Amino acid sequence: MTFTSPTTRTSPAVSTETAIAAAVATVERNTATLGAAYPDDTTTDNRYHPRPAHGSVPEGGNRGWTTSFRTGQLWLAWELTGNDVYRQAAEADVADFGRRVRDEIDLDTHDLGFLYTLSAVAAHRLTGDEVARADALLAADHLMRRFLEPAGVIQAWGDLSDPLQRGRTIIDSLMNMPLLTWAAEETGDERYSDAVRRHTAQLEQNILRPDDSTFHTFYWDAETGAPLRGATEQGAFDESCWARGQAWGVYGFAMNYAVTGDERLLAAARRCAEYFLRHLPADGVPFWDLVYTDGSDAPRDSSSAAIVVCGLLELAQVETDAARAAEWAARAHTILASLIAKYTPATPEDADGLILHSVYDLPKNVGVDEATLWGDYFYLEALMRVARPEWKKYW
Ligand code: GLY
Repeated sequence: MTFTSPTTRTSPAVSTETAIAAAVATVERNTATLGAAYPDDTTTDNRYHPRPAHGSVPEGGNRGWTTSFRTGQLWLAWELTGNDVYRQAAEADVADFGRRVRDEIDLDTHDLGFLYTLSAVAAHRLTGDEVARADALLAADHLMRRFLEPAGVIQAWGDLSDPLQRGRTIIDSLMNMPLLTWAAEETGDERYSDAVRRHTAQLEQNILRPDDSTFHTFYWDAETGAPLRGATEQGAFDESCWARGQAWGVYGFAMNYAVTGDERLLAAARRCAEYFLRHLPADGVPFWDLVYTDGSDAPRDSSSAAIVVCGLLELAQVETDAARAAEWAARAHTILASLIAKYTPATPEDADGLILHSVYDLPKNVGVDEATLWGDYFYLEALMRVARPEWKKYW
């Protein structure tokens, strides 16, 4: 396989505001092109198409784990521009997410956190939408059904009786905890916050390895609660360090430290960040797995870079050591500058992605060297964080 090399592009320095204008113009074009249809997880040849029909869900319908990243982009575009076209499009998605949870369509996943935080929770935070609040609480209750006793973890994938997935969680789950944290804040029900505290402590103990890298996934014995073994699903091999997983670790441990006050999570976020930064190639955008380094012809995963920019900026906010906080923020700015200069389309009309050169799942050859909905979302969130430091996150 050959991949287009992002590193050969040379672009003049572009200001954050110019980058925002280009990104929002692409969001506007994608909204006009796709209308209410949700795009697929990734582009095909750099173009987003409606997600394929599956089972009872028609083409362009709301299924899978990534549809809310379109909604999140619309909320960000509304906040950045004040243009109500984006709010109306976001609200149409939010109503559809309400239908999805009430009709129980494709809910057997921990990704309810990604899905409902960027849709219904964001709607409630930004506009006070009470229907969205009720729908988000319903989604949080579905997520709580995945909490396994005595292990104290939320099962990531599949039906709870599926023997292949039983007792398994994954590092990405850290990003699904904010739905439960929000539900705890809204209702005062400590069941939600206890689940966050126990799940994140289990990940800190077992998914983070002694060398500060992370397993993608980890199994617990569902009957005894004993930790069993790490394994990968999207990484190069079980003991490798999947780049996006490490990026989820930076952002997820930092955010969950802020709400639990568990100092081990701050240490975990720092360790994830240091490992990630130590394994970056010269341009600051990782290969899809951190076993690859400069000189490799493996594809990059720009989505991991966008996530880690947000994660480092979050870590800088919660960091208790001022010098370290300054360092996290500086590294985030450098990586973002590289994304802007080398990973955005040279001509915006040439591609539907806000950033190019991401990888969804290389072992399964899905979405390799394409734009991704989450890469685009976190790139826009990163721009928002840098351009509007007072911005309040949806998580
Ligand atoms: N949460 C799935 C992924 O990052 O690919």
